[in-house]
Amino acid sequence: MKLTKSILVISSLIVFSTSGLLANEMDMVKQGEKIFMTKGLGNCLACHDIQGKEVNGPGSMGPKLQYLSSWPKEEIYNKIYDPYTTNPISAMPAFGKNGWLSHEEINALVAYLQTIK
Ligand code: HEC
Repeated sequence: MKLTKSILVISSLIVFSTSGLLANEMDMVKQGEKIFMTKGLGNCLACHDIQGKEVNGPGSMGPKLQYLSSWPKEEIYNKIYDPYTTNPISAMPAFGKNGWLSHEEINALVAYLQTIK
């Protein structure tokens, strides 16, 4: 009797914590999207078309972002942190190395970019 009860408690705890995790992941994706779109934060949209949202203007120098769901997390992170390590003549600023975006902000961007098929 006591055992059944504790099994119940444990399994509801597991359900609770995994759904908490999912909610957390969703928040990160939302936060990442906001950073991507906002001038003064990432302002990535100034150079990158993404998921049907297009840049109209002289700033569209970066490639359209696509298929990022198949990139490893670290690769996306490193690209945002410092693009020059993989492309010495990149026109993209080093958002992490320059101190413009924090570790958490870059992680949120990575979560958002990984939703791009
Ligand atoms: C000043 C223009 C500019 C801005 C702003 C910019 N990028 Fe870029 N980005 C580029 C260029 C140019 C490239 C292609 C050269 C390279 O890979 O380094 C690129 C490449 C990338 C790639 C690799 C894409 C691929 O298919 O190879 C990712 C991912 C990326 N940028 C993400 C971002 C994110 C996230 C932000 C905002 C924090 C951002 N970029 C802001 C210009 C920009």
